[in-house]
Amino acid sequence: MGFAATTPHLLRAARGEIVDRPPVWMMRQAGRYMKAYRDLREKYPSFRERSEIPEVAIEVSLQPWRAFQPDGVILFSDIVTPLPGLGIDMDIAEGKGPIIHAPIRTQAQVDQLRPLEPEAALPFIKTILQALRQEVGNKSTVLGFVGAPWTLAAYAVEGKGSKTYSIIKNMAFTQPDVLHQLLAKFADAIAVYVRYQIDSGAQVVQMFDSWAGYLSPQDYDTFALPYQKRVFQQVKETHPDTPLILLVSGSAGVLERMGQSGADVVTVDWTVDMADARARLGKHVKVQGNLDPGVLYGSKEFIRDRIIDTVRKAGNWGHILNLGHGVHPDTPEENVAFFFETAKQLNVLV
Ligand code: CP3
Repeated sequence: MGFAATTPHLLRAARGEIVDRPPVWMMRQAGRYMKAYRDLREKYPSFRERSEIPEVAIEVSLQPWRAFQPDGVILFSDIVTPLPGLGIDMDIAEGKGPIIHAPIRTQAQVDQLRPLEPEAALPFIKTILQALRQEVGNKSTVLGFVGAPWTLAAYAVEGKGSKTYSIIKNMAFTQPDVLHQLLAKFADAIAVYVRYQIDSGAQVVQMFDSWAGYLSPQDYDTFALPYQKRVFQQVKETHPDTPLILLVSGSAGVLERMGQSGADVVTVDWTVDMADARARLGKHVKVQGNLDPGVLYGSKEFIRDRIIDTVRKAGNWGHILNLGHGVHPDTPEENVAFFFETAKQLNVLV
């Protein structure tokens, strides 16, 4: 790294350098749409095993790398992975997502949370990230990721995914002090965790505030944005050169606010036209996205046209090509392969 190594494409684009084509990766690129992943899942049926046994997590992270050579290789893990390190036990249930056995509902439970000590609680993360860096060298960029305070709190308080967010919104609107203390503790733990991922080899880190789009803008300003800022500020104090990406699903109503979070790159989902997103964010904010994951159910010509359209609208600076959210599990694998092949030829196509 210190020696004459060429900097990989995605890292250069995320730093704002001019590159010959936009770098490309896909959210959820490791996972169920890949036969290799489904086969491995039979051998390791528990998600915690797949993501916490280093050799297995390394293998899963590398499956899309070997198949498609994306410009970004993301750590195979989950946003709830650090919660046991704070004293919140969890599992990830097949087809359902995270389950928290003793959801956080009281001030006493918030008081009992421990500060995160990543070396002790998450040693496998270091092993995985180091191995990924070793494996991809300068050919790709290793991405780390974390959940944002609001989204992690939604799981910790609700106990599982939710459609209404009734329990956490009840807490927000009747006991805001309790929730603010939880969000503050989560923000500090997440900042520690981002730093640990960077120190272990992550070159870019994405923060997922997946459920913040379910807040009204005024509540986003109270419960999501200040804690996104708190994480990004703390990380920037010690690691100013690592690009940080923010994702909110359902970003359309809060896009400008996302630009104020301190993130270097704002993920745009497909409910916003990329040209509008550029105009709304201003020319200094880098963007990631934003094809509808459903485009991959279309024909090859259709996929190619949508890629070209997105890249033209994003312009030739500060764009990481991606879907607007994770690839769907029933996506034809050959269409994923075609997406990557086409994206990697863009310097000749556009
Ligand atoms: O992008 C990648 O390839 C890295 C893998 C990754 C996973 N989870 C693996 C996973 C990432 C980036 C995540 C983040 C994550 N986890 C988010 C934020 C991203 C987003 O979608 O907005 C959220 C909200 C979670 C919580 C979670 N974990 C959900 C909603 C689910 C899916 C439930 C289901 O079965 O549909 C999980 C489980 C999970 N995490 C799976 C994967 C591949 C699917 C289960 C499996 O493969 O066995």
